[in-house]
Amino acid sequence: MSGEGIGERLDKREGAISGMFNEIAPKYDFINHLLSLNIDVLWRKRAIAFLKRCKSKRTRVAPFKVIDIACGTGDSTIALYKNGIAATGIDIAQGMLDIAIEKNGKLPGNGTPLPEYINASAENIPFGDETFSAATICFGIRNFDNRGNCLKEIYRVIEKGGNIAVLEFAEPRNKIMKPLYSIYLNHILPAIGGMVSKKRSAYKYLALSIEKFPKYGDFCSELSAAGFKEVKYRALTGGVALLYTGKKS
Ligand SMILES: C[S@@+](CC[C@H](N)C(=O)[O-])C[C@H]1O[C@@H](n2cnc3c(N)ncnc32)[C@H](O)[C@@H]1O
Repeated sequence: MSGEGIGERLDKREGAISGMFNEIAPKYDFINHLLSLNIDVLWRKRAIAFLKRCKSKRTRVAPFKVIDIACGTGDSTIALYKNGIAATGIDIAQGMLDIAIEKNGKLPGNGTPLPEYINASAENIPFGDETFSAATICFGIRNFDNRGNCLKEIYRVIEKGGNIAVLEFAEPRNKIMKPLYSIYLNHILPAIGGMVSKKRSAYKYLALSIEKFPKYGDFCSELSAAGFKEVKYRALTGGVALLYTGKKS
């Protein structure tokens, strides 16, 4: 990331995004849990509960495998593993992936293959058609340069009948929560994130990217445009985050 610019410009070119995440990678987990008060753990549980329901209804005999797109430091990939789901994480920021790979060394065995990690873009997923039973994207899609292409690529690598679960930040619609959340997002979050990471621009980018991301029905329309059916969203923590789900028919 060059200087302070990315926060203001919302530069989503892959080089800018991977550069920014590589820079904040060493402090990413700490700041993430601090700023979300660890509620992100509960949000990930909701996404995994959805996938477990999908898994229980699945009739195919091939093993259930999930691709965790924009896996970052692996928190969602590891949550899948801990729930007995084999997962492959992909991300464009090697600094984030290095931390995820390091975490594998501390995971207790549970009979599920350890998470695998690959440096790759959601715009060009290095797997054949219908390789995976489902896909997750946790707080990643907001950063994609070309969401339409990425969603089509994800659709391609999921098997027929497979599912997608997307967790993404939103802004509460409640009249009381909305202004309070706006103060948190635009002032408190960049101040704390900037102080700890020394990269205030990355946390200004976070606030701006949440503001600009299409939410609720608007993002559901993008999932439908990529081919997904049964598209829905559920508001989490009063709409601070949303869980979007869909199915490849
Ligand atoms: C906010 S982090 C989320 C990481 C993780 N999923 C989590 O829940 O903590 C967003 C991640 O998206 C990745 N990313 C952005 N654009 C990407 C793309 N086109 N393909 C793959 N990963 C991408 C970034 O490198 C970053 O690691």
